[in-house]
Amino acid sequence: MNAKERLDKVFAKHHRSRDALIPLLQDIQEIYGFLPPEPMAAAARFCRIDPVEVYGVATFYAQFKFSQLGKNTVMVCQGTACHVMGGARILEEVMNQLGVEPGQTSKDGMFTLERVACIGACALAPAMVVNKDTHGRMKAEKVTEILNAYRNH
Ligand code: FES
Repeated sequence: MNAKERLDKVFAKHHRSRDALIPLLQDIQEIYGFLPPEPMAAAARFCRIDPVEVYGVATFYAQFKFSQLGKNTVMVCQGTACHVMGGARILEEVMNQLGVEPGQTSKDGMFTLERVACIGACALAPAMVVNKDTHGRMKAEKVTEILNAYRNH
């Protein structure tokens, strides 16, 4: 089944009501991995909600993404412990190297950057997580080497 057929199926399964919006958006994201503009507009028409309002609702929930995710996800912790230990400097270095702001994906599609609050590794502050790997006691000088390791995977 291609994406269009899956999308038709998703619309067929929901009721045309405001209550259907969130489940509908979840299903759309399941198909594409994010919320592309066209299916979002279709969801607005389907639920008879203004597209601007649909966008507002979707941005309210952190679970929804608006661009394709990169091959790797980099989460840089900005929780209190990490902040105290220089987490902002790590985030800045990753932003510079990838050329993105938090929430964005690098042009080569390799990395999506997220800013997160406490990932439960405070003893290793400042910490960042790439995919499922925790990198603790981070230093700005280690960023290049770590990112390259995932680039060449
Ligand atoms: S504050 Fe960063 S891991 Fe807890």
